[in-house]
Amino acid sequence: MRVLSGVQPSGTLHIGNYFGAIRQFVELQREHECFYFLADLHALTTVSDGQRLRSLIRDLATAFLALGLDPDRSILYRQSDIPEVLELSWMLSSVTSMGLLQRCTSYKDKVAQGLVPSHGLFAYPVLMAADILIVRSDLVPVGRDQKQHLEVTRDIASSFHATFHTEVFTLPNPLIMDDVAVVPGVDGRKMSKSYGNTIDIFGPEKEARKRIMSIVTDSTPVEAPKPTEDSALHALLQVFAPGSEKDWVRRAFAEGGVGYGEMKKRLFGYFLDTFGDARRRYEDLKQDPGEVDRILAAGAERTREVVTPLMDQLRRLTGLR
Ligand code: ADP
Ligand code: TRP
Repeated sequence: MRVLSGVQPSGTLHIGNYFGAIRQFVELQREHECFYFLADLHALTTVSDGQRLRSLIRDLATAFLALGLDPDRSILYRQSDIPEVLELSWMLSSVTSMGLLQRCTSYKDKVAQGLVPSHGLFAYPVLMAADILIVRSDLVPVGRDQKQHLEVTRDIASSFHATFHTEVFTLPNPLIMDDVAVVPGVDGRKMSKSYGNTIDIFGPEKEARKRIMSIVTDSTPVEAPKPTEDSALHALLQVFAPGSEKDWVRRAFAEGGVGYGEMKKRLFGYFLDTFGDARRRYEDLKQDPGEVDRILAAGAERTREVVTPLMDQLRRLTGLR
């Protein structure tokens, strides 16, 4: 199957992003043909500093590669390297009803959060449909908040089919990734950069340690068994502990005798075991920006092999050729 997903650059990646999304991207590349892109055109709706966007995109590409995205298996590219996506977006806009976009909750949510209610933000789902349809992807791994955009993509594709009496597009299916793991933050709410409760993957080691030691716990004494329900520390230990340590975690909570401080130290150890290699690769790649550029250029070239024949077909079909 052909898989596609896009990620907006939004600053530093946290462990929720890894367990809830990037780990699935990396796993999918073992069995599927995967296209992953860095959504810089989408980012223009929120980032208005060119220098900043350039460095956000570079950091995100570096992070993906460090976390195991293999450019020999997956195609990694920058959205704006495929300008045809904008041409397709316009073709799709012409068959998209206003009502369909007005029903999109993410536009309303973003405006409620204070983002500028621009046309770009409103038309975002059309550009997203173009991202998906332009490579004819079957499966789109996304977070739950993006499910509606997948439904809109299918509606837009069907409307294009009905209007132009064609079946040119593949109708994609979502793969909802946060069903796999919702990672709590240090305060017990869902980890999210908007809550300021994250543990970042590539930040300084001292900072990660500090964040882990600050995970909120109750006041159960060291000797007593500890409650697991609603415990962020327990959930994070479950996420991180390797198979051989799962039993230690279970007993530490069930039997007592292990304090929260000691558990947090273990968790910090698991964090370094899990991300140590990725953190080293990240630093190495940072020293070699030419390598990241080469990978993105090769990714754009491979994407274009799929895009060019489809766009030729679409231009003939619509009369633009
Ligand atoms: P944030 O909430 O920090 O702004 P994003 O919305 O940019 O994160 O999420 C990027 C991806 O990471 C999405 O696929 C989302 O579902 C996933 N993700 C983010 N936070 C978590 C979490 N705490 N647990 C699981 N997945 C998460
Ligand atoms: N809208 C997605 C998000 O905010 C990012 C995105 C853009 C995307 N285009 C896409 C995801 C196409 C999947 C497929 O997270």
